[in-house]
Amino acid sequence: TLTAWVNGRFVPLEEATIHIEDRGFQFADGVYEVIACFGGRFLELEAHLDRLENSCEGIGISLLKSRPELIELIHDTYHRNPFDHAMIYIQATRGIAPRSHLLTQEVEPTLVITARELPSPSAEKLTHGASAITLPDIRWKRCDIKSIALLASVIGKQEAARQGVDEAFWLDDEGHILEGCATNCFAVINGELVTHPLDHHVLGGITRHLALKVAREHDITIVERPWRLDEPGLSECMMSSTTNAVVAVSNIDGVTIGNGAAGPISTNLRQWILDEFE
Ligand code: PDD
Repeated sequence: TLTAWVNGRFVPLEEATIHIEDRGFQFADGVYEVIACFGGRFLELEAHLDRLENSCEGIGISLLKSRPELIELIHDTYHRNPFDHAMIYIQATRGIAPRSHLLTQEVEPTLVITARELPSPSAEKLTHGASAITLPDIRWKRCDIKSIALLASVIGKQEAARQGVDEAFWLDDEGHILEGCATNCFAVINGELVTHPLDHHVLGGITRHLALKVAREHDITIVERPWRLDEPGLSECMMSSTTNAVVAVSNIDGVTIGNGAAGPISTNLRQWILDEFE
């Protein structure tokens, strides 16, 4: 059986419950992280906890746990569950109170930690690349905060599935690719690795950061700027996330990118990241 940390203790997952007046449930008033663990080695744990801290600060929640306490809980959650390669989910909400937009009483934040098996993309996808559609960005304007309010992403993913593709990429009003529903996006344009700069329109992905780091180490030129799919010289697209590492995207809106297979830079970036952590 699986074990979750909830309301200050470890419990069997099927007994793990949250009060119906939790503000996460009623207002999506909370933030989260997803952290990958390969055989007991956590991928960029400190960076994830830094981001969690920033997200909490961004919405004015203070976790009542110190950094070492959080790290211990995360390790504990991993070891109490049966997965070698796991994704650890951490959710913090403002707490439980009678429903009112403005919270006027002191409440303790709710902290939940679960572990699930880390999925891995199929060999088919790794060879031929994933596929995506583009959609106008209907999300809020603080995408740098990893909020649990994910309705737009759920709708985007549903539309992608309906069209038989893997991911939906959000477009700004000028047709720039911002990021995916649960991924950051990159293109190779004239041999340079291009990705949207970090601002309020995208989440600062931990895998994005890693991809840029390994690219730099291998002397690939990095350009952080808004980019479009119709730019001349575009030869590859890819997406990055904790759950995917880096995966090539070879078809967007039904149009083939490059030669329709996973390109060399996408494939290399994926391998270089996995080499560091697997
Ligand atoms: N999503 N952009 C968005 C909107 C995301 O939701 C995510 C991650 C990323 C990639 O971030 P990272 O590399 O730190 O995982 C970018 C997680 C995995 C999720 O919602 O399940």
